[in-house]
Amino acid sequence: MELNQKILDLMIKNRRTFNEFQYTVPSPSSYPYQWFWDSCFHAIILSYFNMEDAKKEILSVVSKQFENGLIPHMIYWERGELINIDWGKQDTSTITQPPVIGHAVWHIFSKDQDKRFLESLYLSLKKFTNYLLSQRDPRGHNLIGIINPDESGEDDSPRFDIPLELDPKHTKEVNFNRRLHLVKQNLVCNFDAPFCMKNFFWVKDVPFNVIMIDHLSYMTKIALEIGMHEDANHFLYHADLIKDAMRKLMFEDGVFYSTYGQDYKKIKVLSWAILAPLFANLYTKQEAETLIEKHFLNEDEFNLKYVVPTVAKSEASFDPKGFWRGPVWMAINWFVYKGLANYGLVELAEKVKQSSIQLLEHSGFRENYNPLTGEGGGAEEFTWGGLIIDMN
Ligand code: GLC
Repeated sequence: MELNQKILDLMIKNRRTFNEFQYTVPSPSSYPYQWFWDSCFHAIILSYFNMEDAKKEILSVVSKQFENGLIPHMIYWERGELINIDWGKQDTSTITQPPVIGHAVWHIFSKDQDKRFLESLYLSLKKFTNYLLSQRDPRGHNLIGIINPDESGEDDSPRFDIPLELDPKHTKEVNFNRRLHLVKQNLVCNFDAPFCMKNFFWVKDVPFNVIMIDHLSYMTKIALEIGMHEDANHFLYHADLIKDAMRKLMFEDGVFYSTYGQDYKKIKVLSWAILAPLFANLYTKQEAETLIEKHFLNEDEFNLKYVVPTVAKSEASFDPKGFWRGPVWMAINWFVYKGLANYGLVELAEKVKQSSIQLLEHSGFRENYNPLTGEGGGAEEFTWGGLIIDMN
């Protein structure tokens, strides 16, 4: 069967409805709820098949936005048995995920020019954007903070080992319990972000900030499209401020590193996060070439049999079967594909796409893949492989 047909079949199989809402679960057995950045990926995928389904996915994910603007990273709709973290609320979690939403909404709009869709979402998008710009940057230093590793979307990434006081090698259980402890601390302060960051987990993550810059650039376009010129200037201004702050506080050794603590100590772990800034054009052409040569094409780091490993092989924490500690994840391949394409590195982008296709063909739609063997890991019937359709 053709790959596009398999993608469509999976998207339909994983489709759920609740009252007037329609959404897609990332995996029926492992992830039977709605997730924020997953739904943004789903909307992009669905736009290749049916625009209304793509729009519904976005409308349902914003429908549980908090009063303060936060869009929760999980909506339970109907609570099932598979709930292993108490986020303090019945119907949603209390944390967010990277803002891929501006990108997804613009992607949809660019296909059918439906301004009413933009207008119906605008206030919600603006409120969420301003929540991130204010609550997640209380000191006005122009970097957006996360209050929990799960907000990065890369739950147990080794980027968070140092802030969590974990060794590079530890078991899944140790990692999970440490994150659970953090959630308990956050519950006590009612997920008050500035307080949580200051007291428990103060991390400015590279991909989150890269995606925020991308989001702000699309918010600028969206605002202009519907005649909100002042807002457009505001979004563009903040995108530039974050770019400058990333350069000032995260850039060293030719790459961008995530930081922790009040004084922005760099977390010098080589993960795919060093490639993420390509997605928002943060490297100069020269820097990008050096980065590719030194890291992306380095067989001891990222140039493994299957790309893109989420963590460089040279890292002590690298584990080819270790969730976010080495395996290939399709959404990451999508970010890297787009990033390489931004720099006109067509052949390298194609390498990422071909590797993704091979993985899907050999191992099916899995949550992640061993970069050394191509073997699938984690959830089954997992939707992210559908992003291959947008690698163009
Ligand atoms: C895992 C991933 C996260 C994703 C969720 C649902 O927790 O780490 O990024 O959103 O599963 O697919």
